[in-house]
Amino acid sequence: MNMIEIERALRELRLSGIAETLSTRVMQAQAAQQPFLETFATMLQDELDRRRSLLTERRFKRSGLTERLSLADFDWCFNPKLPRSACFELHTLKFIGEGANALIIGKPGTGKSHVAKAVAYQATLAGYDVRYVEADTEFASYGLASTQEQAEKLKAWIEPDLLVLDDLFLARRIADVSAELLQAIVHQRYKLRRAIVITSNRVVQDWGKYLGDATMATTILDRLMHRCAMLEFEGKSYRLKEAASRIAVTPV
Ligand SMILES: Nc1ncnc2c1ncn2[C@@H]1O[C@H](COP(=O)(O)OP(=O)(O)OP(=O)(O)O)[C@@H](O)[C@H]1O
Ligand SMILES: [Mg+2]
Repeated sequence: MNMIEIERALRELRLSGIAETLSTRVMQAQAAQQPFLETFATMLQDELDRRRSLLTERRFKRSGLTERLSLADFDWCFNPKLPRSACFELHTLKFIGEGANALIIGKPGTGKSHVAKAVAYQATLAGYDVRYVEADTEFASYGLASTQEQAEKLKAWIEPDLLVLDDLFLARRIADVSAELLQAIVHQRYKLRRAIVITSNRVVQDWGKYLGDATMATTILDRLMHRCAMLEFEGKSYRLKEAASRIAVTPV
């Protein structure tokens, strides 16, 4: 076989990781007079690396995340009262294995969604099946879906290892059908011991008001908080800081 035929065979065998680096590895082996086994091992590693990164990419796409946020670029000095060690504890992802939850509650613009998204992204890198949902928007579209679509959506929110419900009750009162959906999600995931992270700027004492049913709020919170990290985000809005710095640099 010549080089072109070898590359064709590799693609037919779906060894595109090897195909991509083959010419470099051939050059490298000749330059270093490398033993065959060493070259072969390097090529296998290329294939493994490519497959792993494809899987990670697929998990990221499935997660519904649109940003790859990290805690590395988070400014902990801006709001010094944030529960920093609890955030890093979440970032270790131990809670997912334990089937525990996290409630991140606090003031607007303090970084609740940022932390939740960073944890969710980290979970995709670690191989977990993650679903990130902007709660109010998704819950509203659930209400408009057909019965079959609703069943599919519910399944997609029950099955993953980690579900993130971001900005819950942003629009305050949610529809009855959305409240029942939240109840179904929490009850089923609780039974299956699957982790949920919720962010909200509404304190839990008011959830009954936003759900339109105090008893329902109690049954939801009872299960959520059974195994749960409570993170309170006190502080000023980073959005306002960013807006202020934009105004400062705008020429008059
Ligand atoms: N301490 C911080 N360091 C760096 N960026 C931050 C920090 N806090 C917030 N941000 C950024 O500010 C913006 C708003 O933060 P985020 O959306 O996480 O706030 P939130 O607490 O979820 O607010 P809301 O209650 O309105 O949903 C985001 O772009 C986020 O990345
Ligand atoms: Mg938010």
